[in-house]
Amino acid sequence: MRTQIVAGNWKMNNTFSEGVDLINELVEKFDAVKEVQLIIAPPFILTNEAAKALKYKTIGLAGQNCSNQSHGAYTGDISASMLKSAGANYVILGHSERRAYYHETDQIINEKIKLGLKNDLIPIICCGEVLKEREENKHFEIVAKQINGMLKEISPEDFINIIIAYEPVWAIGTGKTATPDQAQEIHQFIRETIKNIYDSDIANNLSILYGGSCKPSNAKELFANPDVDGGLIGGASLNADEFIEISKSF
Ligand code: PGA
Repeated sequence: MRTQIVAGNWKMNNTFSEGVDLINELVEKFDAVKEVQLIIAPPFILTNEAAKALKYKTIGLAGQNCSNQSHGAYTGDISASMLKSAGANYVILGHSERRAYYHETDQIINEKIKLGLKNDLIPIICCGEVLKEREENKHFEIVAKQINGMLKEISPEDFINIIIAYEPVWAIGTGKTATPDQAQEIHQFIRETIKNIYDSDIANNLSILYGGSCKPSNAKELFANPDVDGGLIGGASLNADEFIEISKSF
């Protein structure tokens, strides 16, 4: 049985005190969804505060990104070891916003994945096509290329610690969601791709999350698909009730 996961990517939202309030609200309401692995990814300034609040809870804590360098003169960057030392146990890598606005390539993401793994962080690695690629029916090719690039020289022993998130860029923050059939089709393709790189056991145990305008009203039909193991939630994760509601949608 694969782990069912609902991860909340807060992106660049909330002040420090608003973030603390949201963490506390989640901690308070959490007991309702024990069977699902909840993860939150607040901005870096809240990582340690969240770690303290989540200490006796099984809610996972992720960074939204980390550097592709281990340490040194990289102004503004946060390393994987810093994240780990602040209390994170996951890290989101290769999000389409990092790819689009900060020019992150699969090679850079691959370096980050290696540093994340080295520092005992579970990478949640993202892939997904833009609208034009979907319209030209290139989404399979694009996603396979991203996955192969990101996973270069990642051993099977390391890969079993990785989570994949499929996030079609045209669905992120747009209110447009992939249909359940579209999600299932590409999630199945991702599992097949992983089977070809590693083996079927590893592919069958991999949790693949859907992301892109996932909300309480559509989570149930998305999560009902055999190859959709949960969601990476942006906007709706900023509201504790909606986030909890989504995690009850399996
Ligand atoms: P969204 O974002 O749920 O706001 O569309 C998803 C994501 O980017 O992880």
